[in-house]
Amino acid sequence: MPQRTGKALATAKRTTPKGLRILMIASEVQPFSKTGGLADVASALPKALGQLGHDVTVVTPRYRVVTDGPVAADVSIEIAAHRFRARLMEAPIDPGRPADAGGPRRPRVLLLDCPELYGRDGIYYDAHGDFADNAVRFGFLSAAAIDWASTQSEPFDIVHAHDWQGGLAPIYARTLGTRGATGTAATVFTIHNLAYQGVFDKSWVPRLGLRWHDFTIDRFEFFDRLSFMKAGLTASDAITTVSPTYAKEIQRPEYGHGLDGAVRARADRLVGILNGIDPDEWNPAADPHLPAPFDAHDLRGKAAAKRALLELFGFTITGDLLARPIVGMVSRMVDQKGLDLIAGATSELMALNATWVIVGTGEARYQDMWRSLSHRHPDRVGVFVGFDERRAHLVEGGADLFLMPSRFEPCGLNQMYSLRYGTVPVVRAVGGLVDTVKPFNAETGQGNGFLFSDYHPGAMLHALKRALATYPNRTAWVRLQKNGMKADFSWGRSAAEYVKMYRQLRRRNPGRAPASKQ
Ligand code: ADP
Ligand code: GLC
Repeated sequence: MPQRTGKALATAKRTTPKGLRILMIASEVQPFSKTGGLADVASALPKALGQLGHDVTVVTPRYRVVTDGPVAADVSIEIAAHRFRARLMEAPIDPGRPADAGGPRRPRVLLLDCPELYGRDGIYYDAHGDFADNAVRFGFLSAAAIDWASTQSEPFDIVHAHDWQGGLAPIYARTLGTRGATGTAATVFTIHNLAYQGVFDKSWVPRLGLRWHDFTIDRFEFFDRLSFMKAGLTASDAITTVSPTYAKEIQRPEYGHGLDGAVRARADRLVGILNGIDPDEWNPAADPHLPAPFDAHDLRGKAAAKRALLELFGFTITGDLLARPIVGMVSRMVDQKGLDLIAGATSELMALNATWVIVGTGEARYQDMWRSLSHRHPDRVGVFVGFDERRAHLVEGGADLFLMPSRFEPCGLNQMYSLRYGTVPVVRAVGGLVDTVKPFNAETGQGNGFLFSDYHPGAMLHALKRALATYPNRTAWVRLQKNGMKADFSWGRSAAEYVKMYRQLRRRNPGRAPASKQ
């Protein structure tokens, strides 16, 4: 009898391996700070990993607007000839939700509180431009996270850092963390956007505790400057990016932003894992920003969202207006998002039978462009320049089409939110947009959106016209909506791919793996 029990236990152990301990480092985490999709991912991925039974701690700065919390630890590190003293504060990642006693593990968030570095009117820049000390602001983020983690009694299996702001983490995990609880961890670096690289004067190399020895073309030197992105790319045990198509694209010069060679050199360590969407945040059946819930079985609430959206943007409601399709956009107003294509076709766009509802912030010339269009076509164009969660949700809920003519798009979350909300995406066939939006075929009823390939205003217009021509065909349109709403973009599947990769890394680096974890 005891023998049988032992066997059963051994089998159970093999099929349900022990949860991993993961340290995440990210410069934005929803609901604390956000400029874009990184914040959504750095919040939803830890939650999904927790659901799978893994123990995740996320370290992120406490910017000025973020509420404080109980102090979990003090950190004191000398960096750039200055001793920075900071505190790590506990913060609930999903305030308002009861803690799951004995249920899935909730990620722990530690806010790095250091007012001299983060207590400012902006995350990366203010009205005067990028903060001059961003190298130390984000170098310190990685250093502090690893310094804290290495003092913990239970070792971490994985140090997972995001984008250039986390680029020094794989290096610090080997230097600051060597003897501590991160010394055996495998390091993972995720590229959310290769265009932003964190490139600084080389005088930062010794000031950030880095070695001149590594200031070479195959490490972190980039045209005689220090590149945080390249540090992350070259020093990590594995690299991920946020869609399979972007993983291929960044190996080519057109999408490599000067780093395609560095990416190619590590192609065997690179994997593209599609982002998911956070069902707690983006669910039309339970979205507090919408006037009425709806889902794929009952779309009636979408009409209420459309009306509420038009009202919020100050339109006078008429039958014609309600019948006319709304094209929505929620976007950083920058070239990446295809704003220059729009600028190249404004008169043709305004001639389409559509109402435009735009939420975004970014380059002044694009903000001005939309403001002036709304001024000239007040019955056609509603614009909100700024960052506003409620409006973002209402656009997803109330628009009929969602436009993303991106020049490049590592993953893109808004097209997935659109699909979930029955809002048909019109997108350029690039990056994660290709992996999520499938062309609609009216004959077979397959597909969930409209795509175009050439980065040209005419190609975008053609795709929009195809979508608008389909809109009056209610049967085809509802089919399109439902195809999108039924697609599975849950984080569960993507998180499982991360876990697979983490476990492969642990197997590949047995020297680094503590025996108890395998
Ligand atoms: P990126 O990270 O490149 O900006 P994504 O599509 O991955 O693009 O994610 C953008 C995220 O930021 C989405 O959650 C989107 O709703 C949000 N967002 C962008 N601009 C605004 C805005 N002006 N107001 C509110 N949310 C915004
Ligand atoms: C970046 C990319 C975007 C992606 C997001 C989250 O900001 O521009 O495409 O969805 O990161 O990974």
